[in-house]
Amino acid sequence: MNLLLINGPNLNMLGKREPETYGSQSLEQINTDIEQYAKSLGVTISFVQSNAEHVLIDTIHDAFQKIDFIVINPSAFTHTSVALRDALLSVAIPFIEVHLSNVHARESFRQHSYLSDVAQGVICGLGAQGYKFAIAAAKNLLDN
Ligand code: DQA
Repeated sequence: MNLLLINGPNLNMLGKREPETYGSQSLEQINTDIEQYAKSLGVTISFVQSNAEHVLIDTIHDAFQKIDFIVINPSAFTHTSVALRDALLSVAIPFIEVHLSNVHARESFRQHSYLSDVAQGVICGLGAQGYKFAIAAAKNLLDN
């Protein structure tokens, strides 16, 4: 199983960025940990982070017929991007939306997602372990 983990804008700043909200681990630390976890499940994983909407869209297009499942933290594009939604729909790859923070306990503009209704599921508020839960769920969904 080939899984693609996508992180959107400002997540390259994890560890430095609002640590009380997003935790103290860097994205590199999180990804290293996730890579080992994915390996233990027999999942082949690749990682993309970009601050540019078009790069995320191109990445999703490139995944067409190559990637079985996408786990995505679209960060601020969650709340703004019809284009990201359309890109995910265009490749018809199942995906889980992950947020580190509990977006429902924050500003009202974070409580709407352009992706949630077309996602297999949504995980939020559990910090970086949410990515691992999403990977385990993706494996279960594809195995069963
Ligand atoms: C986030 C929540 C978004 O509202 C925010 O714009 C982010 C990160 C999260 O992981 O909690 O950049 O997706």
